Amino acid sequence: MSRKKRILSGMRPTGALHLGNFHGALSNWVKIQDEYECFFFIADWHALTSDYENPGNITEYVKGMLIDWLSVGLSPEKSTLFVQSHIKEHAELFLFLSMITPVPWLERNPTYKEQMIQIENRDLSTFGFLGYPVLQAADIIIYKAEAVPVGVDQVPHVEITREIARRFNHLYGKVFPEPEAILTETPKILGLDRRKMSKSYNNAIFLGDDEKTIFTKTAQMITDPDRARKSDPGNPDICNVFDFHKMYSDSGLVREINEQCRIAGIGCVECKKKMAAGLSRFLEPVRERRVYYEERPQLVADIVVTGGEKARKTAGQTMEEVRAALKI
Ligand code: TRP
Ligand code: SF4
Repeated sequence: MSRKKRILSGMRPTGALHLGNFHGALSNWVKIQDEYECFFFIADWHALTSDYENPGNITEYVKGMLIDWLSVGLSPEKSTLFVQSHIKEHAELFLFLSMITPVPWLERNPTYKEQMIQIENRDLSTFGFLGYPVLQAADIIIYKAEAVPVGVDQVPHVEITREIARRFNHLYGKVFPEPEAILTETPKILGLDRRKMSKSYNNAIFLGDDEKTIFTKTAQMITDPDRARKSDPGNPDICNVFDFHKMYSDSGLVREINEQCRIAGIGCVECKKKMAAGLSRFLEPVRERRVYYEERPQLVADIVVTGGEKARKTAGQTMEEVRAALKI
């Protein structure tokens, strides 16, 4: 019998999602829903590892993230959508895995080392933060996921997951497959200021931005820095606005901008407006779905209840095998 490959991925709820999140992860998730058996979840416990001092926002962020997901076309009919903290089995498996995970594996995790250096305004020297990848391993293998679509930054975590699964199987008999990372392409667009698009840089276009906001934000974008006046010819190859055109405008317009910019036949103000119109059109169905779900909070709540029931059933079955293997 041929069975669909099982995929799992998650995101920490840390605020509104933007175009970078869409092109870097969500668009891929939406696509693979049809080919694979997909589990997508909101990692609210993981958000606590760094935000334990301010847990108050997490619930709001979970709701917002769910609406963001539904707005881009993640479908509760195709995929199992759920919230990590609804499935207590993750915590039980996390505990068992913590018994067999050598601390040096966690201490040499590059993401951990990097964040310990970079993040200065919070005390991250906690057991939970060090154990982040152990919880992530539990998230993944409790569903016996075979593949995990993630960005490059998460590859070390999937690698630790494989090592933990291997160690468990070695000690107690084979229960878990070793999941593979599926690398998601990095998004082809940058933020308004040409740095990586990020909520904390204040340079993002959010999936929920309305048309007016899109026009205002795109008007602030940095263009070809050598083009001081409208009469100067520009170079679209080094212009962020042109990269956006390539994503959101039709090919005729892209060709026209490419020609006209170089001969100063179009000004940046007009060029940005044309791009904003295309971007706004691109986000139109996303906005429509957002309105639909925002008007139906009960439906949204029910989606994760139903998704949670499905997830719990699978997770529960695995945990029975795990307890049997551990004779506990
Ligand atoms: N660590 C992931 C991130 O920050 C979120 C996450 C938690 C995750 N558990 C997961 C991703 C399991 C994939 C699989 O993006
Ligand atoms: Fe960039 Fe458009 Fe201005 Fe050319 S005309 S520099 S592509 S914004």
